[in-house]
Amino acid sequence: MVETPIALNIPPFFPNMVIPEDNQMTAERLSLGRKLYYDPILSNNGRSCSSCHLQEMGFTSNVTSGFTVLPHINLGWNHHFLWQGGESGHLEDVMMFEVNDFFATDINKLNADETYKALFKKAYGVKEISSKNVAYALAQFFRSMISGNSKFDKYRSGEATLNISEMRGMNIFYSEKGDCFHCHGGMLFTDNDFHNTGLDATFAQGNQGRYEVTKNPNDIGLYKTPTLRNSGVRQQYMHDGRFTTLLQVIDFYNDGFHKNSPNIDPLMILPEKENGLQLTAQDKADLVAFLNTLTDTNFLSDTTLSHP
Ligand code: HEC
Ligand code: HEC
Repeated sequence: MVETPIALNIPPFFPNMVIPEDNQMTAERLSLGRKLYYDPILSNNGRSCSSCHLQEMGFTSNVTSGFTVLPHINLGWNHHFLWQGGESGHLEDVMMFEVNDFFATDINKLNADETYKALFKKAYGVKEISSKNVAYALAQFFRSMISGNSKFDKYRSGEATLNISEMRGMNIFYSEKGDCFHCHGGMLFTDNDFHNTGLDATFAQGNQGRYEVTKNPNDIGLYKTPTLRNSGVRQQYMHDGRFTTLLQVIDFYNDGFHKNSPNIDPLMILPEKENGLQLTAQDKADLVAFLNTLTDTNFLSDTTLSHP
């Protein structure tokens, strides 16, 4: 077994990434995970992970099947996965779900492939490939999908300046006026938690958000907070993809939410916010301008993340 330990390139100001002891990063595992991500061999219908998760869109897509594809950005810091949090734990855990349940990968196909047999032997020292090995290799690739080199990041490290509109948008985002940072805060632009922002007044059975996983009535209507990094290149927003522009999203936060939705997050209905955020057209444009500073063109075209 050949092993070449590698270190991830964690951007400045980012938290430390916890990597499970039994899946430490190596060059062999990482490149294997990348190959698998782009290979339809994992599925039984000609699809690869990359069929729905497109790099140029932050590894999400505009394909809907009643659900909105979640982006693959900085998931190495996540511990809840999927809109309703159907999987929790490490990336290895959600990858087991993707391989075994979502793709129902036929592991015999991989074991019949001499190239893969050799690559898995090098990476994990195994003669027979298991679905666990596949999940672990994929998890390695996901840990390398790091976006932290946007204009905003360069501004933070003093390498770029924001224009007046972007600065004003940033102030709205981080002040009580917009109050976005409470849920989309930190360098990941997500609190890794679940909230009901009042998208709907009621939730139909079978479509009640976090509740579907926990069966706790306090979780009805709660969904995962997505990262806002690279949201400027997405074509649909929210768990059901109901919005197609960032301006529509901001209009929703401004005055489009349902105050009486069950379990609505207290932040949405603070006493001084009774009549919404009261943003002017200029404020909204500024917020959009700020969100667009989170677009990381290096990440979206990074050749170490593209089809090998
Ligand atoms: C048919 C389209 C499609 C394909 C192919 C696909 N995904 Fe997804 N992916 C989605 C959708 C839709 C979601 C959001 C589903 C949800 O939360 O209910 C998602 C969500 C995810 C998430 C959760 C992200 C988060 O922020 O919580 C992970 C991880 C993921 N996919 C990994 C994979 C992997 C690995 C593969 C290949 C083995 C894959 N996906 C293939 C459509 C797809
Ligand atoms: C109470 C927590 C909370 C606050 C406050 C909040 N958000 Fe969100 N945000 C969420 C959650 C949760 C979702 C996903 C909701 C869903 O799909 O049901 C979301 C979704 C989004 C999305 C869509 C992302 C995507 O990829 O689908 C954008 C953009 C967004 N928020 C921007 C903002 C902005 C701008 C503000 C401030 C005006 C803000 N948010 C305030 C929790 C919050």
